[in-house]
Amino acid sequence: RVENSDSRGALIVLEGLDRSGKSSQSNRLLSYLDSLGHAAELWRFPDRTTSVGQMISAYLSNKSQLDDHTIHLLFSANRWEKRSLMENQLKKGTTLIVDRYSYSGVAFSSAKGLDVEWCKAPEVGLLAPDLVVYLDIPPEKAAERGGYGGERYEQLEFQRQVAQYYQALRDSSWKGTLLHSLDVFLCKPVSQMTMAPQLKSSAFLRSFWFL
Ligand code: TMP
Ligand code: MG
Repeated sequence: RVENSDSRGALIVLEGLDRSGKSSQSNRLLSYLDSLGHAAELWRFPDRTTSVGQMISAYLSNKSQLDDHTIHLLFSANRWEKRSLMENQLKKGTTLIVDRYSYSGVAFSSAKGLDVEWCKAPEVGLLAPDLVVYLDIPPEKAAERGGYGGERYEQLEFQRQVAQYYQALRDSSWKGTLLHSLDVFLCKPVSQMTMAPQLKSSAFLRSFWFL
């Protein structure tokens, strides 16, 4: 294992619709980084293990009802409660592969009709990713994949809306699979440190392209 004590880990986010393949690709990426000897961990949001996460999980499985703004803020709070741990891990040299992040927060809540700028606001100050990979799958195709699991947002018509809001989050740096437009809202204390070495290698980036 390479412990990059003098340089930080990379913050890599995978985004996409439900059933777009984020979990499989995250695992492949983790194995790939492992094989290169990089210290890497797989994280996901929502993190359902915390008390905030349990409220989110109950909402998603329709066991509780919450106002749309309230659940939006809980998703954000769930990222905030992990922020310092994320920063510590990155500074230690551990790369974090994160399955969903602020982009899910904004795309899913906006798709319900909440104001996009309002949705971005609570994300301000979270760590900005080095790389965001958007798994661009047609909503119909995702819906076919072994069916949805029955959680609140797993409905084709809603996922179509979400896909449109994901598209709206892209900016000039968009390259088909990259989303960066939230970066200007997210602070980058970690990025001011040494550039994450993993991202300098083109082989690393190629690991995404055999999706
Ligand atoms: P999961 O299937 O990846 O566990 O995510 C659960 C659902 O929560 C999924 O439909 C996406 C949605 N979601 C939000 O609405 N806002 C968020 O901030 C996050 C992280 C997920
Ligand atoms: Mg899901």
